Amino acid sequence: MFFRGKEDLNPNNIPSHVAVIMDGNGRWAKKKGLMRIFGHKNGVKAVRETVEAAAEIGVKYLTLYAFSTENWNRPQDEVNALMDLLVDSTHSEIDTLMKNSIKLEAIGDLDSLPKSTRENLQKAIDKTRNNSRMTLILALSYSSRWEIIKAVKEIAQKCKNGDLNPDTLSESDFVNALSTSGIPDPELMIRTSGEQRISNYLLWQLAYAELYFTDVLWPDFRKDDFFKALFEYQQRERRFGKTGDQLHAETKPVPDASTYNKTA
Ligand code: FPP
Repeated sequence: MFFRGKEDLNPNNIPSHVAVIMDGNGRWAKKKGLMRIFGHKNGVKAVRETVEAAAEIGVKYLTLYAFSTENWNRPQDEVNALMDLLVDSTHSEIDTLMKNSIKLEAIGDLDSLPKSTRENLQKAIDKTRNNSRMTLILALSYSSRWEIIKAVKEIAQKCKNGDLNPDTLSESDFVNALSTSGIPDPELMIRTSGEQRISNYLLWQLAYAELYFTDVLWPDFRKDDFFKALFEYQQRERRFGKTGDQLHAETKPVPDASTYNKTA
């Protein structure tokens, strides 16, 4: 079945959490003979379209990989420009977030961000705190291994203090120590630009996610590209380790990967 448009989507099977790796800004700019930062600037339009599309269709959580721990190794000019862009974008988009009742959150080593970026981000997070239609999570100075080590340290400390018992440590104890605690696992991960890697992104959380890769470069990504990814997701059979026959025989709905998350 070919995707014709949003109307082809099954409204009863919309993923509650979609994670995105926004890739290809640099290549988009290079193809046009422009500096890399123009790719990032044009990527903001794709961010807006994706946020709108996700909210419109009923996605509850959207996580965007905006800056990885490894991105600090890029030329200083590009890092500075990206930080400025993040400040400007959070500032200029705040009215839209409020109007659409979108709550902003951030995960990652936020202490490593420049003060102005951190402060602006915090202002937007505080202002949108009570919004409830969708949560937009920016992964900033984020890497999954950083997050996992941080969680392990926290758990080790709790074991040392006697607040946790190593013998009875459970998945939910670990999930509660991750920065995504309280957020269901993504059912779908989209990566643009043709690269087919996870690149240190939500390694624990993506355990059961469907992966969708598209050749579209991030600055060209539009609402219909997002809906097409959802359509593709809806054609997949999510088995969670079971056989296809078992699934079809079941009358109960398939358990959601998010049931592995925080229960408290
Ligand atoms: C990857 O493309 C993209 C980034 C590292 C940054 C993404 C940032 C934005 C789209 C800016 C706005 C963000 C928000 C949340 C307002 P790349 O530079 O790795 O591209 P390449 O692989 O073609 O070089």
